Amino acid sequence: MTLDYDQRVVRYEEISHYPPHLFQTLVQQADPQPGDCVLDLGAGYGAVTQAFLEAYPESDLRMHVLERSPVQLTRARSELIEAYGPAIDTRLKFYCGDFLDLSLEPEHYEIVVAKMVVHEFPSNRQIDLMKKVKALLAPGGRFFIWQTLLDLESVAFFRKLMRKKDELAGFANLARDRHFIAESELFALLQAAGFQRWQRIRVWDYPFDTAKRLRSEFRNEKPLLGEWNNYLAKALQADNGRLAEKLNARITNESVCLDFEQVIYEVHAE
Ligand SMILES: C[S@@+](CC[C@H](N)C(=O)[O-])C[C@H]1O[C@@H](n2cnc3c(N)ncnc32)[C@H](O)[C@@H]1O
Repeated sequence: MTLDYDQRVVRYEEISHYPPHLFQTLVQQADPQPGDCVLDLGAGYGAVTQAFLEAYPESDLRMHVLERSPVQLTRARSELIEAYGPAIDTRLKFYCGDFLDLSLEPEHYEIVVAKMVVHEFPSNRQIDLMKKVKALLAPGGRFFIWQTLLDLESVAFFRKLMRKKDELAGFANLARDRHFIAESELFALLQAAGFQRWQRIRVWDYPFDTAKRLRSEFRNEKPLLGEWNNYLAKALQADNGRLAEKLNARITNESVCLDFEQVIYEVHAE
């Protein structure tokens, strides 16, 4: 099966404007102890793993890098080896496959991180994702979730916005499968999976800018970006522009900029 993430080779620090201090907050809060094992779930090119290794270059912290796309996993491996040298391999383990299909050791991980991954699972599989993470966490372990988290109205719009982009960019599987969730839906999933305690450790405004996708996702094809911008500008006029005001829309000929919230949650396994 061809995976869209084998083609969607982007850099999230650029398109989503992630400053390094967000990664530092994540790692400081995770505060791994010697010998701990961290699962970077849906790792992409390994940005989360890099952040842990940067903070703990000499320790015996182990990182498991799990990714469904072979292209992304190859990127992760080569970027990690380039940054830390071949010796880092002894602290890393790579898994290629669908998280829900891979056989992983129960109660093995002190820390699991899913950065921008929950929405990659179709809505009817998100509960399986949560249950599996719960089963993999060691007693006292913690699950860190980094997501765009919205209210029900904004998430409905965000889903449409991303689906349109994925369709225009030719990512048919992403357009079909991705399901962005509202914060209340995340809580319901956590509860249904048996988690009882979680807290926000960081919230910030994520400056969404359609123009950032021109090169990385639309292959510099300006008409595609233009079509996306027009679609959004029109959709934002719903309710006499109330949605536009709520999302602080800035619309020009080249781009549509909106403010969405992103959050990092820490979820405790009891
Ligand atoms: C938006 S990217 C985020 C990558 C990385 N966590 C980051 O933030 O830099 C989502 C990643 O999840 C991976 N993914 C999606 N579904 C998956 C699954 N079922 N099992 C494992 N990885 C998956 C995709 O291949 C993609 O690389």
